[in-house]
Amino acid sequence: MSDATVFPVPENLAEKAWVDESRYLQMYQQSVEDPEAFWAKHGKRIHWFKPFTKVKDINFGPEDVHIRWYEDGTTNVCYNCIDRHLPTKKDDTAIIWEGDDPSEHEYITYGQLYDHVCRFANALKARGVKKGDRVTIYMPMIPEATYAMLACARIGAVHSIVFGGFSPDALAGRIQGCQSNCVITADEGLRGGKSIPLKANADKALESCPGVDTVFVVKRTGGNISWNDKRDVWWHEACEAADNSCPAEEMNAEDPLFILYTSGSTGQPKGVLHTTGGYLVYASMTHKYVFDYHDGDIYWCTADVGWITGHSYIVYGPLTNGATTLVFEGVPNYPSASRFWEVCDKHKVNIFYTAPTAIRALMREGLAAVKKTSRSSLRLLGSVGEPINPEAWMWYHEVVGEGRCPIVDTWWQTETGGILITPLPGATPLKPGSATRPFFGVKPLLVDNDGNTLEGATEGNLCLSDSWPGQMRSVYGDHERFIQTYFSTYKGLYFTGDGCRRDEDGYYWITGRVDDVINVSGHRMGTAEVESALVAHPKVAEAAVVGYPHDIKGQGIYTYVTLNLGEEPSDELRKELVTWVRKEIGPIATPDLLQWAPGLPKTRSGKIMRRILRKIAENDYGSLGDTSTLADPSVVDDLIENRMNR
Ligand code: WTA
Repeated sequence: MSDATVFPVPENLAEKAWVDESRYLQMYQQSVEDPEAFWAKHGKRIHWFKPFTKVKDINFGPEDVHIRWYEDGTTNVCYNCIDRHLPTKKDDTAIIWEGDDPSEHEYITYGQLYDHVCRFANALKARGVKKGDRVTIYMPMIPEATYAMLACARIGAVHSIVFGGFSPDALAGRIQGCQSNCVITADEGLRGGKSIPLKANADKALESCPGVDTVFVVKRTGGNISWNDKRDVWWHEACEAADNSCPAEEMNAEDPLFILYTSGSTGQPKGVLHTTGGYLVYASMTHKYVFDYHDGDIYWCTADVGWITGHSYIVYGPLTNGATTLVFEGVPNYPSASRFWEVCDKHKVNIFYTAPTAIRALMREGLAAVKKTSRSSLRLLGSVGEPINPEAWMWYHEVVGEGRCPIVDTWWQTETGGILITPLPGATPLKPGSATRPFFGVKPLLVDNDGNTLEGATEGNLCLSDSWPGQMRSVYGDHERFIQTYFSTYKGLYFTGDGCRRDEDGYYWITGRVDDVINVSGHRMGTAEVESALVAHPKVAEAAVVGYPHDIKGQGIYTYVTLNLGEEPSDELRKELVTWVRKEIGPIATPDLLQWAPGLPKTRSGKIMRRILRKIAENDYGSLGDTSTLADPSVVDDLIENRMNR
């Protein structure tokens, strides 16, 4: 290997792992040489009611784009996650729930999971929810969130989960976007000892969603909420009244499983559509190989089910594999910065999967908070959501894992459904900061801005030249936008929006987004969304938003605001605008820095030159490049002089 810092596969681990290095190379070769045969074989890892005879039918455009996997097979996702395990695992723990308060936890067996899910599936049916209907889930991280997902899957309803940190407006937009008629929420959520008014937020959102006729409410805190008798139903009452068995609907492989809204470089968030068969094959297979999951392992992914990581690697992947998956309601630093490691000790966690932003935040808290815990159960660590800087990688490896646990740095996207570039713990020597090599069947390609394929050690735009079963199928209700967003930039290729470097050893290093998407604490945000929230304020004339390097969050949100004529900048107004954005989108979109801009740098045709704004936000104004095409070059001097990030 060329680089100095390479961490070889620990020997004792390679022996027990599903694949070692030579097996990886052999399987990878098979998977790209004969994908039909490879995926026909691995498609059988899930249970099919009616086996498929067709494996893949893919067209990456340019005109018609379609992606179909196992299209004549039928199955049910919930059946695969629960029923299939009952003969052997009825009394095994499916879910360990750890509450926000360390005194609260719960073990849910596969048998109990079946009971809970069937009851709620019947409760949905009793309110008229049926196959194909869209159900919006707006919940805290409590077991009922997973029951709700699985119950939808059981009856063939399509869930759309909205992260509990989103505002009423953002929730309303997503309910309207997929025309849900049913919403599932809780009275309040609990995070870090604070309550979150989920039901009140939902009530507010529903003022503009007349199509919703049912709201199921889980009693989590018992806090005060308002109630609409016609529309609102207590979860526990509905489940008590319901039968505890419910047949699993026979679904076609290509029937929708869920919609998940995510940010893009333009416009409002898109409803990413995932379907049934291929998604489940891919989520469960990657879960097994990437985390080297073996029967009896305790597995913990700290994500929220409001994000794709929660869908694929808290719920669907692990449960399909009959795993024990830990669901955590709280946050990394409550009641103290030792919480993650205390939970690892308490439940004897073997595999731990989190985001770089959490690692960086805990790293700042110092060694003692980690050292006071044992962490001896940990065998493997994972990272997801954003590039992990080598310092954080080293700390995770040396301090948290005591040099013993490999780190799988997994690169993927909401759109990809599952992990695409990643080490396999028994097969891949690690380099801190690199997501290393492609998973089976994944064909990464680097292209220059004109779409020319780049060979060897190089840097370019990351594309994929063939499909994998977990790939999104469409943008819900807008297939044209799907084609435009992902397949029109480079003909015949899926474009990820990420930049990437490939080194001499064929390792991939993701360098971050090359489009107008920023990644704040692992949360994806379209700069256009924050801009449109800002200009919706009556005093704002224009706004431009860019990302800048942030020690903990990875990227922070830097906003430039031009006020309407006659409005005066002030500290109060700055606070007001920050609060406004939080209200419009949610706390995750809170601007970190807000600069008053008398004007924005524009070309003569009126296009904002973001390159310049990014440089100023990065405090790197010495290398602005050519500004001669600006309509008014003098605005740049003002922006530099009053820059916020010094
Ligand atoms: C970034 C999260 C570097 C990337 C699963 C991608 C990463 C976006 C990594 C998708 C990683 C995710 N290394 N960057 N290991 N994982 N990203 O849709 O920019 O929330 O395009 O999916 O996060 O974010 P999303």
